[in-house]
Amino acid sequence: MTPEAVLSWFRGKRVLITGGAGMLGSTIALKLVEAGARVKVLDAMLATYGGNLFNLEPVRDQIQFLQADLRSPEAVLSAVEGAEVVFNLAAQVSYIDSNRDLITDLDINCKAQINLLEAAQKAGARPKIVFASSRFVYGKIEYNPVDEKHPFNCLSIYGIHKLVAEKYHKFFTLQHGIPTVSLRIANPYGPRQQMKHSKYGIVNWFIRSALEGKPLTVYGEGLQARDYVYVEDVAWAFLYAAWSDRTGGECYNVGSGTGTPFQEMAHRVAELVPGTRVIHTEWNLENQLVETGNYVTDISKIRRDTGWGPHVSIGEGVARTLDFYRRNRELYWKSDSPLAEVQP
Ligand SMILES: NC(=O)c1ccc[n+]([C@@H]2O[C@H](COP(=O)([O-])OP(=O)(O)OC[C@H]3O[C@@H](n4cnc5c(N)ncnc54)[C@H](O)[C@@H]3O)[C@@H](O)[C@H]2O)c1
Repeated sequence: MTPEAVLSWFRGKRVLITGGAGMLGSTIALKLVEAGARVKVLDAMLATYGGNLFNLEPVRDQIQFLQADLRSPEAVLSAVEGAEVVFNLAAQVSYIDSNRDLITDLDINCKAQINLLEAAQKAGARPKIVFASSRFVYGKIEYNPVDEKHPFNCLSIYGIHKLVAEKYHKFFTLQHGIPTVSLRIANPYGPRQQMKHSKYGIVNWFIRSALEGKPLTVYGEGLQARDYVYVEDVAWAFLYAAWSDRTGGECYNVGSGTGTPFQEMAHRVAELVPGTRVIHTEWNLENQLVETGNYVTDISKIRRDTGWGPHVSIGEGVARTLDFYRRNRELYWKSDSPLAEVQP
C-alpha cells in the first residue's frame, strides 16, 4: 500500500492523539491534518516531558487541542467520545526516571492507560487504538535481530509498565471487542523532541551538545549496536498500523532494521558539526545496570502484516534533525541546567 493510499483512508476520520504535543504524536498530527482527518490532541503539557505547542504550530488552527491529563477519567472520556481512531502516546518516557519514581510511572504508564481503555469501552463507537510501546519490554537482549517472540527480560520499571499496558490493550480487545495494536518502538530520534535534558534520546542530545560546541561523551568503546529510527518513519508505522486490518491486540516491532554502533552514530553527528570532538569515558553504574546489549530490530512482522517499512537512513535523518534544531533551538532547550547524561 502506498503512503498516499494510507493517508487517503484518514480523510474525514475523527482521530484522537494522546500525548499529541510530543515528538511522535505531533509528527503524526501533522500528517493527519495533511490527510484531511479531524484531529483532536490531548496532552497534559507536564513540565520536563516532551510536550511543546510549537510542535503543533503549523496545524494549530486545524486541530482541537485539549490540555488534559490522561490520569483524569472524566477528561479522557469526553476526549474519546466520537473518535474512530486513537493514537495512544501519552507517557512518562524516561526509563531512568521510571526506576527513580516508580509510582509516577505506574500512574501514567499503567493506571492512566486503563482510563483510556475504559473510556473507549464506554464511548459509543469503538475506536481502533494504536498504542506506543517500547523496545524496553525486551530488556536484556539474548539474540539479534530481535523479533516479537524474544523473551521479556525487562531492566526498567518503564519496560515492565509498557509490557503491562500492552496486555491491558489486548485484554480490552479480547474482553470488550476494542480493536488494538501495540508498536514496540526502538530508538526514535528527529525533529520536535524535547532537548531540555538527555533522558529521552541520545541522538538528539548529541545534536544539542554538538550545536553548543560541547564534546560528545561515549561510555566505554561505544561498540554497542542500537537501532536508530527516524521520527517520520515511526509516524508512518502508526498510520499503517491504524489503517491495516490488524485489530487483535497484536504487537509489532518498529525500527530501522539496521544496527548502528553507538560510536558510529556519535561520529556521524560530529562530522556534520565541524569542530565537534567525541570523547570516551568509563560507564557509570546506573547506566551499566540498564544496558540491554546490542539491539537490532527484526521488522519483518510489521512489514508483512501492514506493508510499512522505514525509508530514512541514519545519515539523512541526522542531517534533517540538525537542520531543524539549527533553526529552532531556542524553542527546545529552555533549561541549561546540567542534568545527568545517559545513553539510551
Ligand atoms: N522517545 C523514545 O525514545 C521512545 C521510545 C520508545 C517508545 N516511546 C513511546 O512513544 C510515545 C511518544 O514518545 P515521544 O518520544 O513522542 O515523547 P514525548 O515526551 O515527546 O511525548 C509524550 C507526550 O505525552 C504527554 N503526556 C505525558 N503524560 C501525560 C499525561 N498523564 N496526560 C496527558 N499527556 C501526557 C507529554 O506532555 C508529551 O507531550 C510514548 O508513549 C513513549 O513511551 C518513545
